[in-house]
Amino acid sequence: MFRSQIAGCGSYLPERILGNEELAKTVDTSDEWIVSRTGIRQRHIAAPDQKTSDLAIAAAEAALASAGVGTDEVDLIVVATATPDNTFPATAATVQAKLGITRGAAFDIQAVCSGFVYGLAVGDNFIKAGQFKTALVIGAETFSRILDWQDRGTCVLFGDGAGAVVLRASKDVTNGARGVLSTHLHTDGRYRDLLFVDGGPSATQTVGQLRMSGRDVFKHAVGFLSAAVDEALEANGMAPDNIDWLVPHQANKRIMDATLRKLGMPADRMVCTIERHANTSAASIPLALAEASGDGRIQPGQIVLIEGMGGGFTWGSAMIRW
Ligand code: ACO
Repeated sequence: MFRSQIAGCGSYLPERILGNEELAKTVDTSDEWIVSRTGIRQRHIAAPDQKTSDLAIAAAEAALASAGVGTDEVDLIVVATATPDNTFPATAATVQAKLGITRGAAFDIQAVCSGFVYGLAVGDNFIKAGQFKTALVIGAETFSRILDWQDRGTCVLFGDGAGAVVLRASKDVTNGARGVLSTHLHTDGRYRDLLFVDGGPSATQTVGQLRMSGRDVFKHAVGFLSAAVDEALEANGMAPDNIDWLVPHQANKRIMDATLRKLGMPADRMVCTIERHANTSAASIPLALAEASGDGRIQPGQIVLIEGMGGGFTWGSAMIRW
């Protein structure tokens, strides 16, 4: 029996920052509209020569350094992304090669904004099963490449970035031991037309652009995430008071606040990066984890609940004793 412990965290944000005011010069919007509806003030945008794998590698290197783990110890790499470098090979294969790793397995996961929760669940289950000992779980995105920059309903919401965690197998599975305590994943493909990309290799032979019915996504997100939080608490026999940190997918401050209200938790126990990062899809949760563990807010032994929802719809949660 094994449990997977979070051994380290890292992140990377591209240098270029695009603020709301600058965006309002090219599309019919305003800082006031964006901040009041979403909480977003700025987003990072990858340089033209930066690919998703470049962002992922920088985050992975930071996570390995923070864990004190060498590349020779990594035997699984999972990259959660909806914006891979190429249709194939997997972005994870590029990450593996550029980190100089030649053993184990590396593959991508596609669950859009829930991608990191899905990736963590996959890494955790492989470790629990004893198949791998040290996993890099990375969320990395260049959503700026799939946005319609003329569509003010979507282009103001997203940004680029990457975050990563190192998972290590631990034999300590006793009550109170550190590690991933539970993961829960859900998909309901009936909602796939509410948030999608209108291209792809098989459908159109083009990359396509993101399309979204914002109001419908909002409505479903609040309901599904509320249920996901209940499910995680029940599975662990916990009450909201037991949670030290809520680290939600950073899609919209109003969606995040709704989950916080549902839990009855004070705002200072939620990690919030949306103001500066916008929605970085699969990267948003590990970016927030890296920030809050890096600045000492999240401490070893504390209970951290992560949750997210994205296109598909996909949604899910993970409860972690940090
Ligand atoms: N600037 C100014 N006006 C805008 C903008 C903008 N950027 N975008 C839309 N509007 C206008 C619309 O055109 C509309 O004008 P109209 O009434 O004249 O037609 C008006 O604002 C209201 O539009 P709605 O789409 O109804 O606005 P809403 O209050 O629902 O806010 C938003 C839109 C912010 C997208 C919201 O629906 C939302 O956050 N939805 C969730 C989407 C999301 O988080 N997606 C991320 C991916 S999924 C996930 O991660 C959970």
